[in-house]
Order: sequence, then C-alpha cells, then structure tokens
Amino acid sequence: MLGNFRNLPKKWDEFHALPIKDRARFFYSADRIYHTIFAQQFDRKQLERMSDLATCIRKVAKTRSGMDFLQGLLSHKRAMLYFQQPSTRTFLSFYAACQILGLKPAEVRSAETSSEIKGETPEDSVRTFSSFFDVIIMRHPEANFAEKIAWLLSRTERPVPVINAGSGKDQHTTQALLDIYTLVRSFEDRGGIDGKTIVFCGDLKRGRTARSLAQLLTNFDNVKMYFVAPPELQIEDDITTYLTERGYFNEKVYALRDVVETADAVYMTRIQDEWDVAGETKKLDLTAFNFKTEYLSLLKPTGVIMHPLPRRKEIAIEVDSDPRAVYWRQVRNGMWMRVALLASTFNRDKAILEHFEMTNG
Ligand code: NCD
Repeated sequence: MLGNFRNLPKKWDEFHALPIKDRARFFYSADRIYHTIFAQQFDRKQLERMSDLATCIRKVAKTRSGMDFLQGLLSHKRAMLYFQQPSTRTFLSFYAACQILGLKPAEVRSAETSSEIKGETPEDSVRTFSSFFDVIIMRHPEANFAEKIAWLLSRTERPVPVINAGSGKDQHTTQALLDIYTLVRSFEDRGGIDGKTIVFCGDLKRGRTARSLAQLLTNFDNVKMYFVAPPELQIEDDITTYLTERGYFNEKVYALRDVVETADAVYMTRIQDEWDVAGETKKLDLTAFNFKTEYLSLLKPTGVIMHPLPRRKEIAIEVDSDPRAVYWRQVRNGMWMRVALLASTFNRDKAILEHFEMTNG
C-alpha cells in the first residue's frame, strides 16, 4: 500500500467526517497529488507549477518531434474514462489529453452498457476498472462519488489514481484548474491574478464550475468576487463563508449590469435546469443575467469574458468576435491543463520540463 494510505480510516463515514484538509492529505503519494478530487487540494505553488507545465506542453506540442516525445511518455499506461453524466467537452478534452501522452483511453459512458444493469454496485464497477486500467477519470451525478472511490481504491492492494471530472453539483476540479490557467494567461502582463475582480454570473447554486473556481481563487491575494444570480440560484453559503473566513471580499448581486464595469473577468455560466424538480427555472426572468452586446462598451478594455461551455442564450453570439471573449481559448487551455495533470500524476512533469529546456532553452 502507498505510504499515505496506510492510516486511512477504514469506514467511509469516518473518513468523510474529517476536515477537507485532512482528507486531502490522504490523496497524496510522496510529494505529489495522487487522486485529484477537490479544488482545495491545490495551493498556489501547485497551481503555478501546473500552469507552467501546461505552457511547456503547449509549446513542445507545436512540432512533430515534440509530439513524438510527448506520445512516448505514457504509452505503457491505460486510462478508463467513466462518464455517468452527459459530457462532450470534458470527455473529449481528457480523451485528447490521453492521446497526446500516448496513454490509451477506454470508455464507459452510461450505466446501461455496464454491469450496473445486472445489479452491480457502481463501487464494484469502478473497482473492476482498476484491475484493467492505470487511472480512472470519472464524472458522476453524486457529489462525493469520486472521493469515495478514491478512498475505496486507496484501501486495496491495487490503487490507481482517480481524477474527478465533475461530481454532482459540487465540484469540477479540472475545470477550475483550466479556468485558473486561462486567468493566468489573460493577466500575464498585468501582475497575474492578485488584486483582480472576478464576476461570476448565472446558475451559481447548481453550477459546480463556479464553486470550484471560487475556492481556488483564495490561493491568490486580494481577489474580489461578485456573484450575480437570481435569488433562487445564488451561490450557497458554504462558499461565501469559505471566502469570508479567509478574508476575501464577496458580494451577492442581482444584475450583471451593476458590476460589469468593475470586472477584470466575467465568468458566465448556463442555467442548469437538468436539476430542476418541477421546471422552476422556466418561470424566472433571466435577462439581467445575460451578457448583452452593449455590455462590451462597459467592460474594461483589458477585461475578459469566460464560460465553461456549453452556452445557451447567456452570451450573445456577436460577443464571440470581441478579442476579450476568451471562452474558445479556455476550451483549448483545458486540453493542455489535462495533459499537465495526467503527466504530473504519473511523475512525468520533470521529463517534460527538461525536454522543453533542451529544445527551447
Ligand atoms: C460544465 C459542467 O459539466 O459542469 N461543463 C463543462 O464541464 N465544461 C458546465 C455545464 O454543464 O454547464
């Protein structure tokens, strides 16, 4: 059993009752994150290291010889993509990231095609995957499922890393990493993320991307956060308390127009009506939560507009051609960040940095 897993609580409830920092400690192996489950596992140093690694990978991948090098790094490994919720971007982004590293991907995308239909528990299904594969990348509708699997596998004789690709309404850790990378790149010549104002807008109650990103932003100094949503879909108190306890300015706002001028980044999200119980969001007037074309003249010349995608009506199509709309670049950043995460999980980051130094140094 790996070092940190030895003292892992034997009962899930006992483990899950621990403070998040203590749980995160168990998801390390030696000096690196082994299971990537929640945003709070990452500190500033790690975020900067991951962003630098993603940039190196992006540059190395520009040449044929660089691509050949990357493809040799994990060609002896196999990945299982277990996606029990709809996904195109995150799925394909991980799929492409695996291909870039030579890591062979396989997929199970619905419970109907797995033995879960025969009555197997999802826990047993995932444990089965761990017998065939070297990493499990998973998206699941249950909030703590990825964490539970990481705990479960860590207690077996054959643990494999688990990467959370979206869990319930709770966390979207790898999206938050790529969002940080997009902010790092956007503010590269403006002193980085420190001191910036980030405006989150849309369904902040059920949008897991905003929750994870808000938590990761506490790794930077003096970041101000505004949460723009109708009262029914406002960010939940666990997040605002987390921010306030750490001394971060945060305020709930009820129209995007009121804060668009102060934003260094506007993080738009869609209404997550798949979580509606009785079509309740259909009755809401959402016009105050759309990024309208006329807001382009209010947004700072250096401000950026982000979106985890998929988009609906919350950003007018005409906004796409403005250079401050970075959501399509954000998608591509996601692929590079996921390559960086996989490479780092398997301890190949140093090899990439050395190759980069040699060829670009
Ligand atoms: C998000 C998700 O699935 O949480 N999409 C994504 O992964 N890029 C946001 C969404 O579905 O609205």
